[in-house]
Amino acid sequence: MQPIRSIEYKDDKLHIINQTKLPLQLEYIVTDNYERIGEAIEKLEIRGAPAIGIAAAYALALSVKNISEDSNYNFNNAYRRLSITRPTAVNLFYALNEIKKLFERNQTDRNLFEILINRAKEIHEDDIKKCDLIAKNGLSIFNNTVTVLTHCNTGALATGGDGTALNVIRKGFEKGFIDLVYVDETRPLLQGSRLTAWELNNYNIPFKIITDSTAAMLMKEGKVGLVITGADRIAVNGDSANKIGTYNLAVLCKHHSIPFYIAAPTTTIDLTSATGDNIKIEERGKKEILEINGNKITADNYDVFSPAFDITPYSLITSIITEKSVYQPPYNFQNV
Ligand code: MRU
Repeated sequence: MQPIRSIEYKDDKLHIINQTKLPLQLEYIVTDNYERIGEAIEKLEIRGAPAIGIAAAYALALSVKNISEDSNYNFNNAYRRLSITRPTAVNLFYALNEIKKLFERNQTDRNLFEILINRAKEIHEDDIKKCDLIAKNGLSIFNNTVTVLTHCNTGALATGGDGTALNVIRKGFEKGFIDLVYVDETRPLLQGSRLTAWELNNYNIPFKIITDSTAAMLMKEGKVGLVITGADRIAVNGDSANKIGTYNLAVLCKHHSIPFYIAAPTTTIDLTSATGDNIKIEERGKKEILEINGNKITADNYDVFSPAFDITPYSLITSIITEKSVYQPPYNFQNV
């Protein structure tokens, strides 16, 4: 099977799978307009921490493409626009800053666009390699065949390569370590039932979609061997921000003595956050809760609280799997 690629740069344009349409339609957004890419990040047409970073790097590089024809162009405005798309995944800021550093060093170079776009391609290729190494390192968590539970989507759709936690699951299945995957539907935007299910179905890995509140019952009945998720930002002490509901799973795992793993590239580690306490958590709009596919499911004047992410304390995380190594608590990512 052809690998799934959520982002491809070809013919001088970015091709992005529009994830809001999956799994019912496989549609691509094809653009070289940085503002359109910013909008795609904001609307979760492209989502998942590594993929957000890669898309933003291409977008900022593309913003200088027609610089000589646009007298109103201002690099800092483009940088700012892209940096306010989503606040939690640190990969976004890492990638934007990589492009910014190069812009500052080469702004008078007539090959500026090539220099920046090549850096975006490198960030993309680097993520593909990191995904492969995460899966390879992740195999060490298995010692017999288990049923796995995962949350949100951490596969090819969420990254530049084959994924983080979902890539560990994929390789684990190929080696005979996994018999079934329980997929949390992941309310409210259903990254589990729409995106993870789509990927697992493509890979012929047996799965069952469950509502987010089913995990406790399955664990009590001894039906979950381990839980593995991704992360959007990991603090130096290992506290990890990930899709809302991840913390619930980690607490449940502790109660039922089930290992709980996080898999993420080191570009998700935020050296400026000593702990998870100050990680900015994105809040989503009311409509995502009050409506489903544009259909009202409750009164539209009801108030809503909808954080997109929560923080799992390091003490609940059995191991953090990166492309470099598999780390155990106490974590200290200062020199990773
Ligand atoms: O809101 P999303 O869909 O961008 O949230 C994505 C997640 O929480 C993923 O688990 C995380 O980004 C890791 S992706 C490899």
